[in-house]
Amino acid sequence: MSSNPIETGKKLAAYAAVDEHITADCKVIGIGSGSTVVYVVERILQKPELKHLIYIPTSFQSKLLIIEGGLTLGSIEQYPEIDVTIDGADEVDPQLNAIKGGGACQFQEKVVAEAAKKFVIVADYRKKSSNLGVEWVKGIPIEVVPMAYKLVMRSIDSKLSIKPIDSKLRMAINKAGPVVTDNGNFVIDAHFGAIDRPLDLLREIKLLTGVYEVGLFCGMAQMAYFGEGDGSVSTLS
Ligand code: 5RP
Repeated sequence: MSSNPIETGKKLAAYAAVDEHITADCKVIGIGSGSTVVYVVERILQKPELKHLIYIPTSFQSKLLIIEGGLTLGSIEQYPEIDVTIDGADEVDPQLNAIKGGGACQFQEKVVAEAAKKFVIVADYRKKSSNLGVEWVKGIPIEVVPMAYKLVMRSIDSKLSIKPIDSKLRMAINKAGPVVTDNGNFVIDAHFGAIDRPLDLLREIKLLTGVYEVGLFCGMAQMAYFGEGDGSVSTLS
């Protein structure tokens, strides 16, 4: 077990979710994105009976994880019905609403979550929250069509029923330009503080012209696993 409690938590959550939800009689599995999902694939690869399943990616990163692991890569066009999707999250509330998109993959993640009969979240203990917007202060990832990003930023400030504390275009780490998603779009991170009605906010943001997808996942997950640094796993369902 890693001496880093965060890594320990990610691995525990991922392993527990794979052990409980991915079985040899599943056919199609959705693979989320991010650092916790690396442990999901690691666990799958430890089980030879899961090698024959078809795996649907949610990003360039997860496509590589599938290919490099020697698993069978499928597409959502071929398999629009998925048995189980397992993905990470940036924050999860007690009703299983989640903020996702810390890795800018929110659109494909939402498609693959929506297509699944069962959507399971895996995360370390830092992601468990009493109220969305409290722990994840980087803001809600809003994917926008590039030419409309300034318009969307204006609309976020002026058209929503709650005002953001802060909103910014997500820049690449070297600040040389904006982060570009796998769909060729930009991401605006809008921080609203505590969000009392996430579904209402999701609907309002989605209606803004220029918005492609929003990293608020409301009522989508059936279960979440949180790995604690002490070796235990807590769940929400
Ligand atoms: C990427 C995501 C990730 O699942 C989320 O950011 C969690 O990542 P990590 O497992 O690295 O904490 O939504 O768009």
